[in-house]
Amino acid sequence: QSPPLVDPFGRAVSYLRVSVTDRCDLRCVYCMAEEMTFLPKRDLLTLEELDRLCSAFVERGVSKLRITGGEPLVRRGIMGLFRSLSRHLDSGLLRELTLTTNGTQLEKYAAELADCGVRRINVSLDTLDPDRFRAITRWGDLDRVLAGIDAADDAGIRVKINAVALKGVNEDEIETLLRFAHWRGFDLTLIEVMPLGEIEPMRIDQFLSLGDVRGRLEQRFTLTDLPDNTGGPARYVRVEETGGRLGFITPLTHNFCESCNRVRVTCTGTLYMCLGQEDAVDLRAPLRASEGNELLERAVETAIARKPKGHDFIIERRRSQGVASRHMSTTGG
Ligand code: GTP
Ligand code: 5AD
Ligand code: SF4
Repeated sequence: QSPPLVDPFGRAVSYLRVSVTDRCDLRCVYCMAEEMTFLPKRDLLTLEELDRLCSAFVERGVSKLRITGGEPLVRRGIMGLFRSLSRHLDSGLLRELTLTTNGTQLEKYAAELADCGVRRINVSLDTLDPDRFRAITRWGDLDRVLAGIDAADDAGIRVKINAVALKGVNEDEIETLLRFAHWRGFDLTLIEVMPLGEIEPMRIDQFLSLGDVRGRLEQRFTLTDLPDNTGGPARYVRVEETGGRLGFITPLTHNFCESCNRVRVTCTGTLYMCLGQEDAVDLRAPLRASEGNELLERAVETAIARKPKGHDFIIERRRSQGVASRHMSTTGG
């Protein structure tokens, strides 16, 4: 077997995030503009190419694979990819096959996902108020997402709720989200809004420091630090009163890059070594150039050798100064 992928800072790459589409059936205000131009189909990696790409990484030591988007479950034929990738779970090379979803299609797909070996999913849910949900997602139906979450739960999939903390939008609802998630036995992860994509500069005004949120929660709850165990960027605490886990993803106020174990591929096959940096390596050309994987492997090695030490998100930086200008939906988070 080929050697594992290790970057110049000694960090092994064990987690690959793969965006399978830039499309989404919602338009969360912090993620997309209302009017988006989506990529033409020929630019997307085919499902076969996605499978080859993921498998090449798995053979080089990636043990956690997260399918993202856009909304991954709106890509036609996506269950075929899950089905095919599940062979790496059976062989023991892959430890976790999972996805991040907005939940709208989960009622339809939860059982099949469970059957493909998906044991845990992250569902984006920033509010439990139907009107607010519609305002954040621009037209989303909260009940449909809640039904999707129920379907995943019924299928035996562990659910984690992701909520982006937004000043003046859902900051008054964090405790409600926490109680809801923990009552249902789900983890909740709060995320600081990141300045990705030139959508609305007002996102800078919506920035809410999770340090402040934690401070406020600590007036009501006892939070005990837990050792990380998902292999993702969140730092977890146990909420003693509910018995549940609460994660904080704080790229802006507390950089977690030193332990970064991940890279991400866009739906067009561009490998970004860091979410907050522009440097990228094209993997589509080497994938399409030959049926063997030699060129692909060389391109991946070149990329990993260039993985930067960390991101340079600065919330005050304005659009003119050229922060990462990709939309979150292109990179998949
Ligand atoms: P777990 O496996 O449950 O730990 O998932 P995860 O947190 O790795 O994945 P998810 O797709 O739920 O992402 C949650 C948030 O973390 C999203 O906003 C991602 O954009 C963000 N995120 C993931 N990886 C990175 C990273 O390397 N850097 C930064 N800044 N954010 C990241
Ligand atoms: N900042 C932080 N999180 C974001 N997400 C989407 N856009 C942003 C952003 N600008 C979240 C989604 C989803 C996850 C993949 O990333 O809510 O849960
Ligand atoms: Fe779609 Fe997710 Fe972006 Fe919302 S955050 S628009 S659900 S891709």
